[in-house]
Amino acid sequence: MRRDSVVGGLLVLVCGLQACQMDAPQEGVSDAELCTFRASARVEQILAGMTLEDKVGEMTQMTLDVLCVGENHKAEEPHRIDSVRLDSAFAISKIGSVLNSAGHSYPTEQWRALIGEIQAASMEAKGIPTLYGIDAIHGATYTYGAALGPQQLALAATWDTALVRVMAEGTAKEIVACGIPWNFAPVLDVGRDPRWPRFWETFGEDPKLVGDMGEAMVRGFQEGEVKVAATLKHYLGYSTPWSGKDRTPAYIPERQLRDIFLPPFAQAVRAGALSVMVNSGEMNGIPTHANRFVLTDLLRGELGFDGVAVTDWEDIRYLKSRHKVAATHKDAIRMAILAGIDMSMVPQDWEFPVLLKELVEEGAIAEARIDLSVRRILTLKERLGLLDQGGEALPAMLTDSERLALEAAPAQAAMECITLLKNEHDVLPIASSANVFVSGPTANSLNALNGGWSGTWQGKNPKYNNPGRKTAVEALRDEFGRSRVQFEELESMDFNDQDIRRVASALRRSRPDVALLFLGEMPYTEFMGNIGDLRLADNQLDLVRAVRETGTPVVAVFVEGRPRTFSQVESDLDGVVMAYLAGDFAGPAIAKVLSGSHNPSGKLPFSWPREASSHTTYDRKHTEKHYSARPQYAFGSGLSYSPVQTTALRLLNEGNVVLGDTLRIEVDLANTGDRPTNEVVMAFVQDRVASITPSVDKLKAYKRVLVDAGATMTVPLRVPTAELGFIGTDLDYVVEPGTFGLRVQQQTLEFELN
Ligand code: GLC
Repeated sequence: MRRDSVVGGLLVLVCGLQACQMDAPQEGVSDAELCTFRASARVEQILAGMTLEDKVGEMTQMTLDVLCVGENHKAEEPHRIDSVRLDSAFAISKIGSVLNSAGHSYPTEQWRALIGEIQAASMEAKGIPTLYGIDAIHGATYTYGAALGPQQLALAATWDTALVRVMAEGTAKEIVACGIPWNFAPVLDVGRDPRWPRFWETFGEDPKLVGDMGEAMVRGFQEGEVKVAATLKHYLGYSTPWSGKDRTPAYIPERQLRDIFLPPFAQAVRAGALSVMVNSGEMNGIPTHANRFVLTDLLRGELGFDGVAVTDWEDIRYLKSRHKVAATHKDAIRMAILAGIDMSMVPQDWEFPVLLKELVEEGAIAEARIDLSVRRILTLKERLGLLDQGGEALPAMLTDSERLALEAAPAQAAMECITLLKNEHDVLPIASSANVFVSGPTANSLNALNGGWSGTWQGKNPKYNNPGRKTAVEALRDEFGRSRVQFEELESMDFNDQDIRRVASALRRSRPDVALLFLGEMPYTEFMGNIGDLRLADNQLDLVRAVRETGTPVVAVFVEGRPRTFSQVESDLDGVVMAYLAGDFAGPAIAKVLSGSHNPSGKLPFSWPREASSHTTYDRKHTEKHYSARPQYAFGSGLSYSPVQTTALRLLNEGNVVLGDTLRIEVDLANTGDRPTNEVVMAFVQDRVASITPSVDKLKAYKRVLVDAGATMTVPLRVPTAELGFIGTDLDYVVEPGTFGLRVQQQTLEFELN
């Protein structure tokens, strides 16, 4: 797996930084690492004044629970700081970072009180402010009353990177007002396996879309009016465990790793991402937290990342207790630090700094290696302005109007992501005069609409739902009028045949014009969402059948973070809508799409499997053409109420295309309906013959455009020929001359690349 990093060697030759004046390479500190790092004079000065305890403490991150009043890491309500624990954490353990809430969301004021105490203790004990991190992955998830937007998979369905950036800017404002400058987002794992319980935390299955969305989110966090540090996670190879279950082994050959999974991280590093969080799992038998090739040779030597690499939750200790690659916790620490870890998200015991100090004193780890990580951590704090503020000064709170203004982007994203996948007999949109019957287990739950990381880790507790948000059925009542919406509740996912009969009887009595069934899943994240079968729950399949038997037109609305298969009843459905986990504003968005107030524009960022056990991604190989490889709904699919046809495709490059040229593409569109339509024009390329088996399709460009009712328009797209390549047998990126196909919808052409 290991490749000598040419880049690392070159760096040794070209750089003359102070850190390079090492007499001999130190254990675990490559010249490439030392030479690529530039610390400011201020950071060097702080470092020079630090003891070894200070340094190993700076590399220690603890969770808020352990600083609060309470027992066994269960904070006592109301969550408040335990002054003895606080003092011990900073005066004795000298920790450098704190993360998380102590179990649920807090109002901004409570955050500011908690973090104000913490910063004062850190300044008192160390003269260095602590770095506070949080998972604000779809808005400020742990700030009560904040604007929760769509989860990443839904954001990807908007294909609107500009909107994603604006939403991230808003999240930055909300968490900074709490005193939190470090956000553990975006997830850049490529979602290739819909069984994986964190599929909805990804931007979907295509590396280009994932990379573009990730870059937009990083820039939104780091370049907006208010800045926070982004965290690229979970580096690397986390999203395709062989079993589909979270944190189980992945087997990813280096060629695929470089071709599919690495590019989004590389793109985000180029965009200036300030931190990376490491994958808790293992690849090819090597836990990523102990994988020096991934954490140093690739991340530092090839990607040139100079930010902070933080572990995921307790993952150094897990090298011993889960992965069994270390006989002791101390050896696990040695392995992880020498692999390239800068900060340990310990986060609930006090051994890490003590054992790390011993390792340095025993010569198992060079102090120069510790200095390298401390430089990176202090530089991160410096880049966030923490060293200027002195830590105590918390940024200004948001006014009510400022906070209200932050709802616009997530609400717009919720509207843009809803994806219409089937619309037989124009069952949709529903006429305003229609009588609507609503049922299904996700019809009346804000928690279902938000998913995990919403108020609490698993997102299940309605107590921490933000006030004033509407469930789907509440929003439908607003949209159609209460008298026109009959709701037959199914309060649990485990509803039974008797419940189904009750729903069918109620439907027959109400004789509606259409039945809406809200299906899918209730919230989960990580291993809590592991499943044994991607097929939709049997009771939901039975519910569809029972409603179909009444003869009422029926529309399924999926509220879920992954495409559960339902081919057994797909033909029973007149309409299918994917609502993903679209956040606090999903209810009104769904209602407006169903009523036609909003013309749906979402496009699937993944391939919806037809059968649970025969999933392929859209960029499958030519040998994967068996019937079952055909998805239920294709990557990029999504209908509107006013269809846009692709009427022509042109390549403007004269004659043969030469490597180094840019493909100049023109696509003609015609909106044949009576409404303006937001369309996403997607250009796919097919390499006809290549030295690695080519994919049947590869997304190379896309653009969102608004096509007015009845209008035609020409859309220009550009594809640099340098992007027509792939990782070859020698593990290097290569573009091979030859014949290529170009496709936009059903329009195709061919060109020669010389
Ligand atoms: C979790 C997740 C990670 C998150 C971290 C801190 O285990 O894997 O995505 O950022 O812990 O909450």
